[in-house]
Amino acid sequence: MKISEAKVFFCSAGCGFASALSKASGCALSSIKVGRFSDGELFASVEEEVHGRQCVLIQSVSAPANDNLMELLLAADALKRAAAASVIAVVPYLGYCRQDKRNKQESIAAKLVANIMVKSGIDEVFTVDLHSKQIEGFFDVPVYCISGVPVFADYFKKTGFSADEFVVVAPDFGAVRRARELASILGCDIAIVDKHRPKANVSEVMNVIGEVNGKNLIIVDDIIDTAGTVCNASFELMERGARGIYVCASHAVLSGSAEKKIEKSMIKEMIFLNTIEIPAHKMIDKFKILDVSLLVAREFFR
Ligand code: R5P
Repeated sequence: MKISEAKVFFCSAGCGFASALSKASGCALSSIKVGRFSDGELFASVEEEVHGRQCVLIQSVSAPANDNLMELLLAADALKRAAAASVIAVVPYLGYCRQDKRNKQESIAAKLVANIMVKSGIDEVFTVDLHSKQIEGFFDVPVYCISGVPVFADYFKKTGFSADEFVVVAPDFGAVRRARELASILGCDIAIVDKHRPKANVSEVMNVIGEVNGKNLIIVDDIIDTAGTVCNASFELMERGARGIYVCASHAVLSGSAEKKIEKSMIKEMIFLNTIEIPAHKMIDKFKILDVSLLVAREFFR
């Protein structure tokens, strides 16, 4: 689809990404009017003519995840009720995707969110680094997910790094595919952390598979939420003789005081994609933000 032929809208958590995408693709932007009733209920309205038009709707399902998800659903519904021909949701970070299986008696929130997104009128979803590949199958509409790994790889290549001094580390088994992808582009070996999660938001390192002694390490993950996973992994990896630790993560969820934990940790640098806007009060010197919008524009809107 040519983005220049579509109407491109954004909601509250899509603003930063929308302006980056607009710079990368030259598209004009329109915002959806979002408001609240006094009890907190949200409403969304389209202020422009969209009859028969292809519409692109940009919104991340980042914190506050429930409100931002609801905005996305209401905006899609508003566009469809205004007779848009189609609604393509560009969701740089799709919250709820971590909840993609039942461990005990939990809901599968990722599937439920997929159902309601389709029900709201979304015809296609474009996203970045879903938590797991199978989530695409939760949607009964096409889902196109790009990997941010090439953006991270370019960053390291530009620093003139030397492949034999670096090892790419998966901080848990779920991250192995991503770590292999980065290691294969950079020509490095990989190591894997055997992470155990006794309960949500708590993580423990059980073991490390692979050689890390004397190496610079690049930990690659999809989400940094409490930062427990990468901070615990960094501590254990330094104990095992690592020289320095870099982290590449697609989505800067950064809940609670995650940035303070990272500041105090042994991590030298944490490199994020711009799928979630980091509030100014959470920005620290260790953070580097890479723009993935050019890749999105190239892959999705030719
Ligand atoms: C887990 O499966 C994910 O890939 C991330 O490792 C996890 O969500 C990070 O969470 P936290 O930063 O709270 O440890």
